[in-house]
Order: sequence, then C-alpha cells, then structure tokens
Amino acid sequence: MKRTPLIAGNWKMHLTIQEAVALAKEIAKSSQGLEDRKVMIAPAATSLNAVAKAVRESPVIVAGQNVAWKQQGAYTGEISPLMLKDAGADMAIIGHSERRHIFGEDNAMINQRMVGALTYGITPILCVGETLDERDDGLTWEVLKAQIREGMETIASEQAEKIVIAYEPVWAIGTGKTASKEQAQEAHLFIRGVLEGIYEKKLAEQMRILYGGSVKPDNVDDLMKMPDVDGALVGGAALQSDSFDRIIHFS
Ligand code: 13P
Repeated sequence: MKRTPLIAGNWKMHLTIQEAVALAKEIAKSSQGLEDRKVMIAPAATSLNAVAKAVRESPVIVAGQNVAWKQQGAYTGEISPLMLKDAGADMAIIGHSERRHIFGEDNAMINQRMVGALTYGITPILCVGETLDERDDGLTWEVLKAQIREGMETIASEQAEKIVIAYEPVWAIGTGKTASKEQAQEAHLFIRGVLEGIYEKKLAEQMRILYGGSVKPDNVDDLMKMPDVDGALVGGAALQSDSFDRIIHFS
C-alpha cells in the first residue's frame, strides 16, 4: 500500500507575523518540485492568514494548531473550522500532547474537535502518545488504544480515510530523546491495528501515521525507512529553514 508521506511543521507558540512569513517563503521555495511527498506547516493563529497568502503559489499545506467544534458562538479563545478555512488553512492539529497535558483536553473534547473539523471541511491530524510514566508502567498500548478509539468515536469510514494520525510519545517531545526507529515502528503498527479494529483493513492501510518527538535532520532518514512511519510532525527543527529543508528532503 503506497501512502504519500507528509512532513508537518508545528510552530507552536513561536514567531511573529513577519518571522512566520519569512520562514514560510523559504519553505515554499524548498518544497517546489517535491512530487512524492507533502509538506504542511502550522503557524500560530495570528500568522495563519499571512502565511497562507505567502505560500499560496506553492504546494505547502497550511494548518491550524487546534480547532473548535462549532462554526461560531460564545467560545472565548477558540477558533472555528470556518475561521480556519477563511484564514487559508485546510488542516488542523487536534489533541496535541500540550493541549492534553497543559490545557487539560480529554479524549471526549478531542473527539468533538475531530467531528467538528470534519463536518466543516478541515482535515484533522489526531495526535496520540503516552507519557514516560505510562510507558514505564506498561500502559502504552492501553493509552494509545483509548486515545484512538475515543478520539475517532462516531467518525464514519468515508471521513476517517482523510484523517492523519500523529504518534508523539510525550517523553520524546522537545527533549532531544527521539523514539528509536524500532519503537516508532512498533507503536505505528499497533496504531494501525487499532484502526483496523474500528474500520476495515484496507482503510487502515491507507491512513497516514506520522511520528513526532525530537525529529531532526540526523534521524529523519532512519525513521522514514520504517514501513509504518508515513511522515513526521516536527516541532523545534521546523523553526529553522535549513533544518526543516533537510527534513522535508529525507531520503
Ligand atoms: P519537537 O520536535 O520539538 O520534539 O516537538 C514535537 C512536537 O510536539 C510536534 O508537534
């Protein structure tokens, strides 16, 4: 089964509008001519529209870092799928570990965000991953299974095929401690099995599963060689054009 790899940069709470546009332009330039892979960037909400305009003539996809489940309403601090589309985004990161652990988002809320995004035409990247304590306690598979099953609840096959999953072990995020390629492969294969349990095998084999957590120019090639690693969700190394350029040109 051939899955088109996706390299996604999550800029988190970094960069002014001017800095974001400058970086986006560099990325648009380095993404030209890349036919066999897709490139996505998720700027902060304040830069979203300016970044979308800056990459309009390029193949770069723009994403929000989160998304609400309603089109509009009294939801202070939230951004609706309609607003994301209006600003120029086609995708949204949902359930990032920082949303789960710093801002207390649970699987039920993440599911609402998933359903809302799909309803209004935003493609979700659902992030899952265990903490170090959970891994040490032997709970990794249980945690991943619950995050996937509860996060995807009520989502039908026709919608699920668009969804991208990102496996981001919490202990590997921003720590410089990448999962080994074997650990990543093991988790991705497990996740594909969970998807197969919800949907049919064919669909589970179509869905892309990205790895995230200290992806760098010097480990991306090894990770991307693994059969179930279909791309990367990159934090720190996505903030510099030279390192992100190397990552999107993985071999
Ligand atoms: P780092 O690449 O900085 O570890 O961040 C990973 C991440 O959280 C991407 O969403």
